[in-house]
Order: sequence, then structure tokens, then C-alpha cells
Amino acid sequence: MSFPPDLVRDVARRRTFAIISHPDAGKTTLTEKLLLFGGAIQMAGTVKARKSSRHATSDWMEIEKQRGISVTSSVMQFAYAGHTINLLDTPGHEDFSEDTYRVLTAVDAAVMVIDAAKGVEAQTIKLLEVCRLRATPIITFVNKMDREVREPVALLEEIESVLNIDCAPITWPIGMGKRFQGVFDLRQDRLVRFTPGEERVRDDGELIEGLGNPRLDELFPEETAALRHDVELIRSASSPFDLESFLAGQQSPVFFGSGINNFGVREILQALVEWAPPPQPRDGSSRMVAPAEQAFTGFVFKIQANMDPRHRDRIAFFRVCSGRYQPAMKVRHLRIGREMKLGNVITFMANERVASDDAVAGDIIGIHNHGQLQIGDTLTEGEALAFKGIPYFAPELFRVTRPRDPFKAKQLQKGLQELGEEGAIQVFERAWNNTLLLGAVGELQFDVVADRLAREYKVDALYDAANIATARWLTFPDAATHRNFENETSASMATDVDGNPVFLAANKYILQVTMERWAKVGFHTTREHGQRLVQG
Ligand code: G4P
Repeated sequence: MSFPPDLVRDVARRRTFAIISHPDAGKTTLTEKLLLFGGAIQMAGTVKARKSSRHATSDWMEIEKQRGISVTSSVMQFAYAGHTINLLDTPGHEDFSEDTYRVLTAVDAAVMVIDAAKGVEAQTIKLLEVCRLRATPIITFVNKMDREVREPVALLEEIESVLNIDCAPITWPIGMGKRFQGVFDLRQDRLVRFTPGEERVRDDGELIEGLGNPRLDELFPEETAALRHDVELIRSASSPFDLESFLAGQQSPVFFGSGINNFGVREILQALVEWAPPPQPRDGSSRMVAPAEQAFTGFVFKIQANMDPRHRDRIAFFRVCSGRYQPAMKVRHLRIGREMKLGNVITFMANERVASDDAVAGDIIGIHNHGQLQIGDTLTEGEALAFKGIPYFAPELFRVTRPRDPFKAKQLQKGLQELGEEGAIQVFERAWNNTLLLGAVGELQFDVVADRLAREYKVDALYDAANIATARWLTFPDAATHRNFENETSASMATDVDGNPVFLAANKYILQVTMERWAKVGFHTTREHGQRLVQG
């Protein structure tokens, strides 16, 4: 197949990525510095101010207002070195939700920020697991080297063993904390010096090449011996950077730096431009779709309810997978089998929302709609495709819900059905007592649902704690096993909105024992949107 040259050119220039990290590792700081270095914002503090206003209060009225804010800040597009970079925000802190995971299904690469004092933390592990589903290439940034932190060799060992990914250090730190002097660039075999607090890294400094250079001993008499020792160790123990392994998600290039001091930020941008992949072919179920194909296609990976709850209008975050978006174009909405005009569409620039007039594979556009679009929906110019890889994730937080007024049971059911379809929350029905169970990966999801049920569906509901730690979707090899399993574990069974069987476990131990006992049953941590699991 031959592709239009303008699309080939524009797609090759796209880089779409997200930053993954545990809260407080420095994601906001790095985001801001990337935008600063990319020339998208002029002043430090812009992104940070948004973050602090977002967390000034947990009052829902505020969250409602702030949802408007997070719409603009959830995708940031900027230009760097002849490339168009789309940085997708992964909501963290109290905003952590399934959206955080889904965003990762729409990127082509991720930057993982590790706090050098804390090492690999819980949320990083979870987010990396999601990246694993699509073998997303990962660039690692070990942050906060200006503090007293862990030994770099130990940090790399931890990343390799806990996250099960090979590390290829690209730079190596010289000292840390007050004695942090900069990094040694292992590939270019030269020193990059650190000057705290500088807005830009100096290019005009003295060039010191070679690890054996005596100038290193003169400049850093205390640190140079350790540097040589570490680098020798690293060079013999770890494999050099290999682009192919990186692109396969098996090896991660590692940079050391200090985001707040702008140190190492430009190297991350450079790595994104040089090594991170442009938009890749995507699985459209009936065939693979190449990004430079002429026909426009893409999928919805996130829905955001808009500011005004009376209008129930939503913004669908849509990743373009091929072709070129043009204003007012007509597309086919495959799930409902209808045509749809893409009228009111926005592009997310780093600092503002603007009407969109051009978008190609890798770009994210925001489509205003009144509920026609759901997470996982595919739009094309006519061809029957269904993009895969936008899963539901096994929830880890659960609440049993019932209406305060028993006569409102129908409204509650309807509200939850719609909010479930929108992806705000997962809804399960327990077989043995017909109770409705809400499942989430972040606490905020419950607040959002409670508030929206009250406002939009006029249902005041009660949310009780549920003694459940995790859930797994089930597939059975045959009907007899299915029956036996249900008989034996009936109190732990539920069904999801699409009627799939789900196993609920009070703790990880019970899950493990059950999995061992029922070795032929499939226990799944994810499920595709709208998917009916095939049972044997
Ligand atoms: P997050 O989005 O991942 O949650 O992290 P964020 O960037 O907000 O950074 C968390 C804290 O770590 C902030 O301090 C930030 O200033 C600090 N930080 C980020 N990068 C570095 C670094 O390279 N070195 C050092 N020493 N600190 C860093 P805070 O006290 O929570 O906020 P603030 O009062 O400094 O704004």
C-alpha cells in the first residue's frame, strides 16, 4: 500500500507520550520543564499552580470546577526540534482513576520518573504493568539527584528486579545532594556539568572528554574515583543501549538528573525525539491499520463530563490512528452504526484549548458530544474496524451501593448503567443477593459517581464498605467447569455490565488459592470494553 507523502511526513514527526510516576516523584515538575524547554510556556510555575489549586480542597464543588481545568491540562501539544509532541497527563494523587490507566493505551512511549531517594514505588509498578500490555517503550528519569539519595547502582538493580526491565544507563551521576556535580554521558564519553537553579543548561562550559581525563580528578577530587568504579561496573554488568530492545519495551534508557533544577530535562526531550517511536500501526480487529493510511480512523480512550452538568455534554478524548482530521468531516460511528459529523472539535495546546483544524495519527482531539461516544468507540470513514486495547482494569476498591429511598432503585440502576458505560466506575451485580457493587482503582471515582448520581439522576445513595480486595474476569474451559465453579464459590461471584462472570476475592491469598485449585479456569486482570468473554 502506498501512503500520501504529506501523511508519511507528518506522522513521522509525531511523538505521543505520558509521564508515569508515583505521587511526589516529580511528574508535575518534569512536565513543566519539558514545556518550558519546548518553548510552550514562558514561565515556570504554570503547571504547578494548576496542581496546587487542584489539591487545595477535596470539596466536590471544587472538583467539578477543576474538571474544566483538567480538560485543558490533560493533553499538551507542543513543538520541539521539528517534531510535534503530545504529552498526555496521567492523573495522579487523589485524581488517580481508571483514566490514568486508559491514557496509557493512547500513547506510543512513556517517561518513568523515579524519586532517587525512594526508588521504585507502588503506583509506578501498577502503571508500568499497564504499559506492559502494549510493550510500550519506557524512558527512565531518575530524579532529585540534588538530594541525599540512594546509591545509583542499587537503584538500577531495584528497577531491573522489581519492574523486570533491563536498564541501559545513558548518563551516570557524579556525586549527589550538595555534592552533585553533574552526569557523565556514557555514550558521548564526556562530562555534563550541573549548576543548581539555572534556567538553561550551559553549553559554553568546558568540555571534558574521557573518563580517564585528569581534569575530572582536579575538579572533583572526592567523587571521581567512585564515578570510575561505578561506570566500570555498569559497563561490565549492563548491556549498552539497544534501540530495538527499547522499542520492544524490554530495555529502558536511564537518565539521572534533577527536574527542579532543569538538569537532564533536555536529554529526555532529545531521547523522545531521537528514540521514541512515531505512531505505530494499531490493531483494528479485522486488520492492522497503518498510521499514514489516507482514511481517517481512531478511537475514544477517555470521556470527560463537561463543566455544565445540566447539558450532559461530554468531551471524548480521541486518538487519531490514521488519516487526517478535517473540520466538519463525516465519520462512521461503528458501535451504533450511524454517521456522525465531527463539528465541535478541539485541539489541546499546552496552554489553551483551540478549535482543531488539522490532526494526524498520534494527535489527540476532543470531540464534544451528548453521550453518543463511549470509551473504546471506533470512528472511521466507513470501514468496519474496532480498535483493541482499551481495557477495563480489575478494580481494587469496592463499595456496596443502595438508594437511601428504596423507590429510587430504578434510577440508581439507570444512573450506574450510564456512568458505567461512560467509564466513570465499574458496576457489578452480585449473584447471590442481587446487590450492586461499585469497583474503582482510585477513591476519587466514588466521589465523582456519588456527586453525579445526586445531581444528574437525583439519587441519593449509600455507599458501604465491601470486604473485597480485588476482582478477576473469568473464562471457563467448558460448561461443566463453569457450573462447578459457580456452585462452589457462589458467594464470591458477580457479573459485570456486559454479563461476564467475575470472581471477587476478599484478599490476595484467597485469590491465589482459588487460582491454584481451578488451574484450568482463566483469571483475567483486564477486559476489553464491550467485550463478551468467550466461554468454552
Ligand atoms: P508529582 O507531580 O510527581 O507529584 O511531583 P511534583 O513535581 O509536584 O514534585 C514533588 C515535590 O518534589 C515538590 O516539592 C517538588 O518541588 C520536588 N521536586 C521535584 N523535582 C525535584 C528535584 O529535582 N529535586 C528536589 N530536591 N526536589 C524536587 P514540594 O515541596 O511538594 O512542592 P514545592 O513546595 O517545592 O512546590
